[in-house]
Amino acid sequence: MNIVKSDSNQKYVRKFLYKKFSRNCFRTIYCQPLSPIIIPQRCFKYVESLYYLFIREPKSPFGELMKYVIVHWSRFGNGKKLVDYLAGKLKEKKGETQLFKTDEADPAAMPEADVYVFSAPTEVMNLQKNMRKFMKKLKGMEGKKYGIINTYGMKKNRLDKMEKLLSKKKMVKVAGVEFHVEGDGVQTGNGLMKGWEGKLDEFAGKLEHI
Ligand SMILES: Cc1cc2nc3c(=O)[nH]c(=O)nc-3n(C[C@H](O)[C@H](O)[C@H](O)COP(=O)(O)O)c2cc1C
Repeated sequence: MNIVKSDSNQKYVRKFLYKKFSRNCFRTIYCQPLSPIIIPQRCFKYVESLYYLFIREPKSPFGELMKYVIVHWSRFGNGKKLVDYLAGKLKEKKGETQLFKTDEADPAAMPEADVYVFSAPTEVMNLQKNMRKFMKKLKGMEGKKYGIINTYGMKKNRLDKMEKLLSKKKMVKVAGVEFHVEGDGVQTGNGLMKGWEGKLDEFAGKLEHI
């Protein structure tokens, strides 16, 4: 079996397979761009199911396509650039994705999703006010999974604040990622540092395996 695609899913599967089948090797799986891994013949069926689970189409625990709801607030557009890119990535992986600004969604009646993503900047030494208010008003989110994104211009990111507010709602963290913004481009939405896409790809990968 050849698995020829390169994204974080494969690294995940490959790591898993290495742990599981390090001896009695009969057949090779190619996880490009990484080197081949070899697995025992009796495990082909198992590996095939992994392929369908993790590589072909990420699915929710109920066997449906993954549903994502992204809520964001962005003043200058840096955060907006991140959530647009993320929504594109998740759709590429065949996830159903809805994107809202904080004033476009009702925190007391959120649409059903497998994972909720919240993205906002740090402002005045705190998580930006609209997002803070939004999180405080969330209702009926107990046990729901979430990912968080924070942009910031100084030294400290506010992922911890986001986490604190969501843990009060008894939500369950899946992943968090921060992006430092800097330079003349910040106020035109061009302050993200080189490599931000890769960092976001990794974050997107974590949201698939809940
Ligand atoms: C009014 C205001 C206050 C800010 N205060 C902070 C701050 O206390 N700490 C910090 O790291 N960045 C601060 N920043 C920088 C923002 O975090 C940065 O502009 C933001 O992350 C950019 O994202 P956006 O384009 O999505 O708005 C501040 C920005 C503004 C406009």
